[in-house]
Amino acid sequence: MSIQPVLVVDFGAQYAQLIARRVREANLYSEVIPHTASAEEIKAKNPAALVLSGGPSSVYAEDAPKLDPAVFELGVPVFGICYGFQTMANALGGTVEPTGVREYGRTEMSVEGGQLHEGETNTVWMSHSDSVTKAPEGFTVTASSPGAPVAAFENVGKKMAGVQYHPEVGHSPEGQAVLERFLHGVAGLQPTWTAENIAEKLINDVKEQVGDGHAICGLSGGVDSAVAAAIVQRAIGDRLTCVFVDHGLLRKYEREQVEKDFVEATGAKLITVHEADAFLSKLAGVTEPEAKRKAIGAEFIRSFERAVAQAMEGHDVEFLVQGTLYPDVVESGEGSGTANIKSHHNVGGLPDDVEFKLVEPLRLLFKDEVRAVGRELGLPEVIVGRQPFPGPGLGIRIIGEVTEERLDILRDADYIAREELTRAGLDDEIWQCPVVLLADVRSVGVQGDGRTYGHPIVLRPVSSEDAMTADWSRIPYDVLEKISTRITNEVKEVNRVVLDVTSKPPGTIEWE
Ligand code: XMP
Repeated sequence: MSIQPVLVVDFGAQYAQLIARRVREANLYSEVIPHTASAEEIKAKNPAALVLSGGPSSVYAEDAPKLDPAVFELGVPVFGICYGFQTMANALGGTVEPTGVREYGRTEMSVEGGQLHEGETNTVWMSHSDSVTKAPEGFTVTASSPGAPVAAFENVGKKMAGVQYHPEVGHSPEGQAVLERFLHGVAGLQPTWTAENIAEKLINDVKEQVGDGHAICGLSGGVDSAVAAAIVQRAIGDRLTCVFVDHGLLRKYEREQVEKDFVEATGAKLITVHEADAFLSKLAGVTEPEAKRKAIGAEFIRSFERAVAQAMEGHDVEFLVQGTLYPDVVESGEGSGTANIKSHHNVGGLPDDVEFKLVEPLRLLFKDEVRAVGRELGLPEVIVGRQPFPGPGLGIRIIGEVTEERLDILRDADYIAREELTRAGLDDEIWQCPVVLLADVRSVGVQGDGRTYGHPIVLRPVSSEDAMTADWSRIPYDVLEKISTRITNEVKEVNRVVLDVTSKPPGTIEWE
């Protein structure tokens, strides 16, 4: 299946990636490209449509980013957003001016017909000081707002349109519908980028890349590596070997989820190395967070090497599977696709003397697409729906030295918290909920007739879009009460449960 991308032209703000996601939600494949791409380069990508993103500049600024004007002659449908709308107006002979009215935030926009909007008014999110005051010839003005005389225009014959506001943000409630009316309606594109088709394409791509070679995939228990492995397994069957390092810092039942549920769902060949003792001995006496991370990271590389050596016995293994996602690719400036190993502990490291070719079946996908493909391939919900979990695992959620006994306490408390949050139907609202053991703190409590001297457990539920910033989640009191009661009743050694109500910044999500 050869796919024509919808190209999102990045004019230098942070909006392009979000727009690319919204295009995917409209079931069309999208890619972000820089605004410096020439018309030739754009044509060579055979795009289905272009979406011009917002940006921080004024079109009249000397260094204003511009698109090669020949792009508008390619016969490709174009949709302009905010700055992209203004630069499009400018290039096609319309007028953009500073009106003196800066419009920022939620705005009521009047709708005057056209294909993109429905109703008489739409609530939209504006952020501009210049405005389009005259649409280019052949374009109809279809909406206006107090600060934007031309808030939307379209030329249906040319399959071109644009809006001054940001349809990609949640504050424009009709935004996604408007984008879809353009892509499916005005541009006439078929919404074929579905989980089923994506899975089929990715499996075929891997077949082509790996041929009759052998591959290895390190599983972390997380979503990305599991889905990447499932795709490769479908493509090359038993020529894939998965390896899993049990470092003893996993959560309750996590090893079973990989060893049993994942293997049952995929039929993948799995080698587990049991390394808990090695990790614990390296962590003995270590309390400083960065030292812990270093100790875990270094040991992970050694364990992973041992696991890879086992997996390679008797085979010439050329390929290493990695769960790199599209945002990683965009953020690294469209990496070359070779040897760009993530520095996280997710995969850890590789034997020095082995050079693998990377197989990155998820490099085109956003996280929600990875989950959808995982479900399509029949992976269990406990894996596909899993919240982010740090590579160094529970090792960085114990404040103080990491010991087996403390890990057991934390594992039990963490399991109760997760179980109750799921039971209360809060999984979709919460980005993740670290549960932290303050192992070096003890305080007095009372249980039955006795005085206790136990540890506090911290609950850190947060809501977030991308983990860069986060807010503390407003969990209903009765759910918190249930978690607290169960933890203090069921987990010996814990006599208090406290809630972290700090946002990020200034806090981080993890405690360490
Ligand atoms: P912080 O604590 O910096 O965390 O606000 C941001 C996000 O990153 C996750 N995290 C990690 N993920 N390896 C990972 O794969 C790591 O070493 C690591 N440390 C933090 C954290 O859980 C949160 O989602």
